[in-house]
Amino acid sequence: MVEEIMTTDQGYPITNDDSSLTVGNRGPTLLQDFQFIEKIAHFDRERIPERVVHAKGAGALGSFQVYKSMANYTRAKLLQDPNKQTPVFVRFSTVAGGRGSADTVRDVRGFAVKFYTEEGNYDLVGNDIPVFFIRDAMKFPDLVHSIKAEPHNNIPSSSTGHNNFWDFVSLTPESTHMLTWVFSDRGTPASYRMIEGFGVNTYKWVSQDGGAVYVKYHWKPKLGVQNFDRQTATRIAGEDPDYLTRDLWEAIARGEFVEFELNVQMMDISEEMNQIFDPLDPTKTWPEDKFPLMPVGKMVLNRNPDNFFTQVEQAAFCPANLVPGIEFSDDKLLQGRTFSYVDTQRYRLGANFHELPTNKPIAPVTNNQRDGAMQCQVFKGSVNFGSSSQGGPKTVPQEGKPYKPYIQGNIVREKINKTDDFTQAGERYRSLNRTAHYVIPSTYDYQICFGEDPDIA
Ligand code: HEM
Repeated sequence: MVEEIMTTDQGYPITNDDSSLTVGNRGPTLLQDFQFIEKIAHFDRERIPERVVHAKGAGALGSFQVYKSMANYTRAKLLQDPNKQTPVFVRFSTVAGGRGSADTVRDVRGFAVKFYTEEGNYDLVGNDIPVFFIRDAMKFPDLVHSIKAEPHNNIPSSSTGHNNFWDFVSLTPESTHMLTWVFSDRGTPASYRMIEGFGVNTYKWVSQDGGAVYVKYHWKPKLGVQNFDRQTATRIAGEDPDYLTRDLWEAIARGEFVEFELNVQMMDISEEMNQIFDPLDPTKTWPEDKFPLMPVGKMVLNRNPDNFFTQVEQAAFCPANLVPGIEFSDDKLLQGRTFSYVDTQRYRLGANFHELPTNKPIAPVTNNQRDGAMQCQVFKGSVNFGSSSQGGPKTVPQEGKPYKPYIQGNIVREKINKTDDFTQAGERYRSLNRTAHYVIPSTYDYQICFGEDPDIA
């Protein structure tokens, strides 16, 4: 093995990394100690802003393969060939707590998958619960402010047991369905290997001939869904705050690879107005007896990251990272998400975050965007604009027929017509077993008792 030689960032050989340069061995320190200054100055800058939500997470690498071609529904190349493996990176996360918070607190879990495809990165940014608290992106900052610590005392730093959360949800009836999930044992999963994943929002698959269908994504864990009860989750939060992160890491290190099956529900777009609920409403599920799950393919996670910061902390997922053949629906929440993620990543990671190894597509990236902080590419030639008679990147012809939805309406700020905030919440509650009928109200009680204001409680 070749021994690594320690150097400064400029490659200057280091002979002593323990003592700073001083006048006599008691000090003072000399300003000319560039070796010390570099070391301490780098350390001073080691933290980047944590994600505004989903700050605590764990990552794993692997691949995805379809069972059979999905060409009848989508032209997305990653969904065509059952013999092809697409590399993936997955980040599981909690939502509310900060970067150092406990893994087993009651919360939603994030389930974000980045497919590195020949057509660029496709991100399926989902959660482990099939619905969401709100249906309009305008309310997302309010939701998150109400969930995160209260602004005057920074309490609670990783759970929802406080006045602001209960105040918000009591005035947001569309959150009721979500609460029946988060306050059941689904809110305290036993392992990231044993959670489901859901796209939550509705997307469109578009085929080569321009046909489109609505889809909802479901990941099913091979090991089944396993949760902790409240008491166990609470104990583990104290004993091993990194329990879920450790469980994922150790399982992969032992060679127990983690498998999820991707399924989709499909709906003809012509059917959307014929449902009793709004199929674009992310506070609703689509009934599986009417819209059955169709197995699409399998994901296997078989590799731990080599470096947490570079590969996991700097990972940047966004629902707007699409490939041809997969499109947004008009779901208002999804539309807001498409802006928010890249916007925060430009702030959290910088203008050229897409060049970081974990975010860099395997497909070639060519355009006229130049410069910006930490630009790593060495662009060649004199042309950085289009159209140019001197060359430069050319746009490509559209492959297949585009799907061209037609939309007409008044410009308004309004709720959707079919809100129906309670039917599915009631159905889910009644579908649960008797234990859950005890668990949900008692967990409400348990959390509400942390509140200070009896009127809100
Ligand atoms: C209007 C609604 C929403 C907005 C504005 C929003 C915004 C954000 C933002 C700003 C981040 C941090 C991104 C980063 O720093 O890299 C984030 C992370 C995340 N969001 Fe959302 N979000 C919304 C709803 C949802 C929904 C419905 C889901 C699930 C389907 C979801 C799943 C996630 C996940 C999994 C992450 C973590 C990604 C990672 O591991 O890096 N979000 N969200």
